[in-house]
Amino acid sequence: MFAVTGHQIRQKFLDYFGERGHRAVRSSPLVPANDPTLLFTNAGMNQFKDIFLGLEKRDYNRAATSQKCVRAGGKHNDLENVGYTRRHHTFFEMLGNFSFGDYFKRDAIGFAWELVTRDYGLAKDRLYVTVFREDDEAEELWQKVAGVPKSRIFRLDEKDNFWQMGETGPCGPCSELHYDLGPEGAEPGREKEEFPLDGGGRFVEIWNLVFMQFDRSSEGKLTPLPRPSIDTGMGLERLAAILQGKLTNYESDLLFPIVERGAELFGKPYGEDPKVSVALRIAADHARATAFLINDGVLPSNLGRGFVLRKIMRRAMRNARMIGVEEPFLYKLTGFVAELMRQPYPELMESAQRVARVVKDEEHRYATTFQVAEKVFQDEAKAASGGLLPGPAAFKLYDTYGLALDEMQEMARERGLTVDLEGFEAALEQQRTRARASWKGAEKAQVAPAYQALLEGGRTRFLGYDTLTSESTITGLLNESKQAVTELAAGANGEVVLDQTPFYAETGGQVGDTGTLSRGGVKVAQVENTYPALPGLSVHKVKALETLKVGDRVACEVTPDLRVSTMRNHTATHLLHAALRNVLGTHVKQAGSVVEPSRLRFDFTHYAAMDGDELAEVERLANEQILHNIGVHTDVMPIDEAIKTGAMALFGEKYGEKVRVLSLGDCSRALGGGTAVSRTGDIGLCKVLSKWSISGGVGRIDAVAGEGARGE
Ligand code: ALA
Repeated sequence: MFAVTGHQIRQKFLDYFGERGHRAVRSSPLVPANDPTLLFTNAGMNQFKDIFLGLEKRDYNRAATSQKCVRAGGKHNDLENVGYTRRHHTFFEMLGNFSFGDYFKRDAIGFAWELVTRDYGLAKDRLYVTVFREDDEAEELWQKVAGVPKSRIFRLDEKDNFWQMGETGPCGPCSELHYDLGPEGAEPGREKEEFPLDGGGRFVEIWNLVFMQFDRSSEGKLTPLPRPSIDTGMGLERLAAILQGKLTNYESDLLFPIVERGAELFGKPYGEDPKVSVALRIAADHARATAFLINDGVLPSNLGRGFVLRKIMRRAMRNARMIGVEEPFLYKLTGFVAELMRQPYPELMESAQRVARVVKDEEHRYATTFQVAEKVFQDEAKAASGGLLPGPAAFKLYDTYGLALDEMQEMARERGLTVDLEGFEAALEQQRTRARASWKGAEKAQVAPAYQALLEGGRTRFLGYDTLTSESTITGLLNESKQAVTELAAGANGEVVLDQTPFYAETGGQVGDTGTLSRGGVKVAQVENTYPALPGLSVHKVKALETLKVGDRVACEVTPDLRVSTMRNHTATHLLHAALRNVLGTHVKQAGSVVEPSRLRFDFTHYAAMDGDELAEVERLANEQILHNIGVHTDVMPIDEAIKTGAMALFGEKYGEKVRVLSLGDCSRALGGGTAVSRTGDIGLCKVLSKWSISGGVGRIDAVAGEGARGE
């Protein structure tokens, strides 16, 4: 039915760039690692941000990805448009090729043109190009390298053709390829439009090539980058629709089977009643976002990412309810999404049951909420005077009880009322102002410039997997206000950066090490904590006992008892993880942990309540492995290889290109940078505390290993 499938289009992209020296890199999860300013991954370049910034190096300088993206909530929010337009989505895939200081404009343009016109076979006379107003070079290259006539190249200003990652950082002019669907492809009333337009009707933006050329400072100054780079993004669903001769992404093979499945479940055909078609498009799009987000560890909740997911799910349910669908359906559609996408994303099949359970729970919850909302609505409607449902009441129904405005308007109409829109908007605006203020707060959480400067001087070498002591040089000092200083006086609190350190910096739930720094046998500082200020830069929080100077040689010593106790608790989390999977099922995945010298806490995905027998069995299995005294091995390997060998990864954790894999015989293989004991017997004993909890699909157990487990 489809000449070329979406999966083939994706593969062709990766193959094309693979043949041209690009590493095919896996899509990063939808939850961006360590980036509080970003709600969801929303572009292919997110996972390479640190490379563009020069903070991270990889062993390749060309890459290609098909990146899972969600644009809902946060800065890019397309949620309200989804279902009503041809090309808006919450979830989509972005195809991208990247050059990290390797090739630049000429090749980026040459590759894009060749792939699109030769390999994908798009007609040249249907393509338009836009370039940045001042980018003579790009305009020339499109003519020279690609042979695009000047008449089809348009210069646009910053709004359209200058791309930047954020307020500061790498940025540059960009150049877009647009496809003309022809007058027959125009939306009604837009047939006569001419290029350049916004791409909403007849002209479709398919590919954005960003020429990363400058570094923008906080004062807005643009400094040329020493090694200009390339970041591109092409919408897979758009391309699929075009190559399959469809006017809307929803009729491409990436989405249409879900629409059809939805029509079956709703018992209503697509393409007849516009309201039904909207509900079906929404259901198809939102089922994809739901399946992928839950697979990546997001759970519906009332906070942050979880809340956006909940909104997406409820929007699908609400629109179905509005056309008379009362039965839960979304959990069936998410299962179908997993089937449809199993080839490129086999992990969706593994999580399908878990996803279905979360979605079904949410559908039940929604049905009850809706009944409550309806009751509150009736009370408000009775109290309304002058035929108007007051703004604040409408906002409460919307915000607290989850009624959509259109839904509410419809319910009001049935009772001869209208909603006070002005009052509603005013209340909504007040809430937006509050929300913006809180996001701004998050964006402000910036890295102190002093750390950036120190990292440029070199990464901290971590020696602590093998030793608890070292001879190191102080390469940087910061005072309490995080300003770089050359000296820290005796008695002062501050931070020390060393060229190499045995101190473990707090990550992945494991606490940072404590200990001492000495000079000539005399203690000169007490290390109170250690944490990573930036990836690759460990910072030791200290109280200086003597004057410390940059350049001083110091002897480092980690407090051994605390570290060893921590290692016992850390390794015990791996045993508990394995035991939980054994007892409850392989859907159990680590969702967080706390590892301290005196205790551990382990969070994991699970749905039903656990009974005492199960808990006892988990404890028994963990201790059985301790008695087996299994050797603990660590390997450092590329992430792809690690995942292939079945190592378990942790949700939301940021992994570098190379990862540490901790193996406890056949019992457990998991990714993790924490420090471990050398044999499971070193743990001594592991005791699971009887208090445990489960909420919103996350179970939590607390346990003690080693010393603490002996029971005082
Ligand atoms: N990063 C560029 C975009 O998101 C390619 O459009």
